[in-house]
Amino acid sequence: MLLLPSLLLCASLADATNLLVASYSGLLYSLSLTESDRSFSLTTLDTTDGCNPSPAWLSLKRDSQTLFCVGEGLTSPNGSLSSFSVARNGSLTRLAYTDTIAGPVSSVFLDPATIALAHYTGSSVSTFAVDAGANFTALQNFTYSEPVGPNQARQEAPHPHEVILDPTGQYLLVPDLGSDLVRIYHSSVDGTLEELESLRAPAGSGPRHAVFWNPYGAACENCTTYFYLLGELVNRVFGYSVTYPAAGGLAFAPVSNSSTYGRYDAPVDAYAAEIEISPDNRFLMVSNRNASIFSLPNFDLANGTRVPSDSLATFYLPDDGVPTAARLSPAGGRWPRNFALNRAGNLVAVGAQESGRVVVWRRDVVSGRIGKAVASIEGLGRVSAVVWNE
Ligand SMILES: *[C@@H]1O[C@H](CO)[C@@H](O)[C@H](O)[C@H]1NC(C)=O
Ligand SMILES: *[C@@H]1O[C@H](CO)[C@@H](O)[C@H](O)[C@H]1NC(C)=O
Ligand SMILES: *[C@@H]1O[C@H](CO)[C@@H](O)[C@H](O)[C@H]1NC(C)=O
Ligand SMILES: *[C@@H]1O[C@H](CO)[C@@H](O)[C@H](O)[C@H]1NC(C)=O
Ligand SMILES: *[C@@H]1O[C@H](CO)[C@@H](O)[C@H](O)[C@H]1NC(C)=O
Ligand SMILES: *[C@@H]1O[C@H](CO)[C@@H](O)[C@H](O)[C@H]1NC(C)=O
Ligand SMILES: *[C@@H]1O[C@H](CO)[C@@H](O)[C@H](O)[C@H]1NC(C)=O
Ligand SMILES: *[C@@H]1O[C@H](CO)[C@@H](O)[C@H](O)[C@H]1NC(C)=O
Repeated sequence: MLLLPSLLLCASLADATNLLVASYSGLLYSLSLTESDRSFSLTTLDTTDGCNPSPAWLSLKRDSQTLFCVGEGLTSPNGSLSSFSVARNGSLTRLAYTDTIAGPVSSVFLDPATIALAHYTGSSVSTFAVDAGANFTALQNFTYSEPVGPNQARQEAPHPHEVILDPTGQYLLVPDLGSDLVRIYHSSVDGTLEELESLRAPAGSGPRHAVFWNPYGAACENCTTYFYLLGELVNRVFGYSVTYPAAGGLAFAPVSNSSTYGRYDAPVDAYAAEIEISPDNRFLMVSNRNASIFSLPNFDLANGTRVPSDSLATFYLPDDGVPTAARLSPAGGRWPRNFALNRAGNLVAVGAQESGRVVVWRRDVVSGRIGKAVASIEGLGRVSAVVWNE
């Protein structure tokens, strides 16, 4: 009986478990997570440079095994949007490619045939039609020059940072780091966006990423929905309850305001990055950058030096929606721009950008605690995104 948890873990990993990784250094990686003799390893199955310039974000259509990547183009006048087929053996074949407005950093499907992008440098939100061959046709774009927030170094212009759908799938929300807004659009059945009134975030907070949460899961008809907005520039999570007025749109009421370091204030020069709800729907997780408050034994066991690590924060979510009991754990390296939980919630993959490393951590699904690192891979360059393909 005591062996059950590890047997379950083995069983869930016996199937092909791949990770798709983007790196600002120019490559997409298709990685395999395999287990033998109770130890795990991450190996490279394939790489491609087909998402250049500066691969920044991945969206995977699991049913068709089609991967969509945006290239931020950190030093280019345009960004890119590309699609790849993912073969069973993990190999990546590019299907289509198009130039975009500068600086795309996030993508989401509004419906199976329409993808929306947030453009940080280009101060824009754009949409593309995606046909059955994964080719692209530009549809709409919304480009902004105002407002700007008070942080002159980072808020010199609007900077849309993520595109996410609300739980009804009818609204697109776009945290704008430069404007201290969450821009909101109604998405009609044909994928056409119509802009509505924005949610005003706290001044100087720098909205980066966000998630929705409902204590009883998305199917609960009349329970309160919450919206957690991560302010990169203040390292805080702002919680709102969300209602849907009869006249249409979304209405927000502030309910919480939490440091991404739990009961501690954020260190100076820290920049929170990613926010996720665990698959069990009971925990909120955030990654923190540029404050290596942990030091870990080297992942190369033959190397006696220790390595610096930023942190992950795990909050428990009670029914009242106010995140509590934050715990900090090591991210596994410097600058964890992105992380992802597997479907079972028992593994967390972290992309440590400035360490060029992906680390897979064990996670206790009941307590939400992050355990030991089970596998890591080095030398991937400036990792920007990590997606599970189970
Ligand atoms: C992987 O699968 C693809 C598509 O089926 C095939 O073209 C390719 O040769 C395979 N690669 C290897 C290394 O087996
Ligand atoms: C490429 O960038 C230029 C300069 O910013 C812009 O005018 C043009 O519209 C962009 N092209 C696309 C396809 O977005
Ligand atoms: C996608 O574009 C490629 C190259 O332009 C073309 O060969 C292919 O037929 C297109 N596929 C579809 C389904 O339109
Ligand atoms: C953006 O939309 C405008 C119309 O609103 C259009 O004229 C322009 O070509 C679009 N730009 C791109 C890059 O698609
Ligand atoms: C939800 O609320 C509406 C309006 O108050 C009510 O008609 C409906 O029966 C409720 N649904 C459930 C599942 O409680
Ligand atoms: C959130 O809490 C912090 C720390 O107490 C405080 O400085 C800040 O003003 C609060 N922000 C809002 C919008 O309540
Ligand atoms: C990261 O933190 C260090 C201080 O620990 C600071 O010197 C540096 O400017 C920070 N990096 C960025 C990009 O702000
Ligand atoms: C040992 O690890 C440190 C920190 O990651 C690294 O800088 C150093 O090059 C490594 N040494 C060897 C011999 O690999």
